[in-house]
Amino acid sequence: MKIQINNLSIQYSDGTESLRGISMGVRPNAVTVLFGPAGGGKSTLLRCLNRLNDLAEVKTASGQILIDGENILDPKTDVIALRRKVGMVFARPVPLPMSIRQNVTYGLELAGEKRRAKLDEAVERSLKLAAIWDEVKERLDDPAAALSGGQQQRVCLARALALQPEIILLDEPTSGLDPISTGKVEAALQELKKEYTVILVPQSVQQAARTADYAAFFLQGELIEYDEGAKLFTAPKEKKTEDYIMGRFG
Ligand SMILES: Nc1ncnc2c1ncn2[C@@H]1O[C@H](COP(=O)(O)OP(=O)(O)OP(=O)(O)O)[C@@H](O)[C@H]1O
Ligand SMILES: [Mg+2]
Repeated sequence: MKIQINNLSIQYSDGTESLRGISMGVRPNAVTVLFGPAGGGKSTLLRCLNRLNDLAEVKTASGQILIDGENILDPKTDVIALRRKVGMVFARPVPLPMSIRQNVTYGLELAGEKRRAKLDEAVERSLKLAAIWDEVKERLDDPAAALSGGQQQRVCLARALALQPEIILLDEPTSGLDPISTGKVEAALQELKKEYTVILVPQSVQQAARTADYAAFFLQGELIEYDEGAKLFTAPKEKKTEDYIMGRFG
C-alpha cells in the first residue's frame, strides 16, 4: 500500500464530525475513487492527505495516515515536502494570470529551478501527461486564461504534475466541463496511474464506475464499502451502496 489510513476521525471546531473511524489502504498505480453523497467527508479526507486541513477549522484529528510508512499527521512532518509529494487538483481550474508555459513552470521556478532546458522538459512532459500537449504546443506563450475550461483544468493538472509528485489528488476535477473535456481528463487519469497513485473524487456515480480501479463509498462520515471498482459497481455487498449506485437516494 502506498497509503494506509488507520482509524482516522476528523472533527471540525463547530462540532461537525466529518469522518468517523476510517481505515483503508490505497494502492500505487491505480485510480482509487472516493464517492458518495454531499457532505460524506470525501473532500475532508483528500485534504487530510496533504495536510490542507491544517488551514481549515479542524478541532481534532485522531488515527493515522501512513504514506510510505510515515504518519503524516505527526506534528514533525515536513508539510512543504509532503505537499510536493502529494499534489492536488481542485474542482474549478484556477490558472495563474500568466502564460500556459509559466503556469506549468511556476512551482519549479519557486523551488529554484532556473535551467531553461529543465523547465522546457518539464513543460512538455507534464502537458503530455495531462493530455493537452497537442492542443497547446504551438501557443505555449499565450495566456492560460484564454483556454477553454477543460483545457485550463488540464493545464492545472500539468502544473501539479510538473513538481513530480508521487500521489495526485483530484477533487471533482471535471465539474462544469463539457463531455469531451471530461473524457480527456478521464483518459489522462488512466495514463497517470502508470506512474502515480491517483485518488479521485468523481463528479458522479457514472464517472466513478468508469474510472475506478478501487472504489470507496462514503456516507455521512463513514466508509460503508471499499472494493475493486469492477466488484463494487456490479455486485455491491452493502444495501446502502446498492441503493446509492442505483440512484435510490442522492
Ligand atoms: N471547514 C469546515 N468547517 C466545518 N465543517 C466542515 C468544514 N469542511 C467540511 N465540513 C463539514 O464536514 C462534513 C464533510 O464535508 P466534506 O466537504 O468533506 O464532504 P464531501 O463528501 O466532500 O461533500 P461534497 O460532495 O458536497 O463535496 C460536512 O458535514 C461539512 O459540512
Ligand atoms: Mg467535496
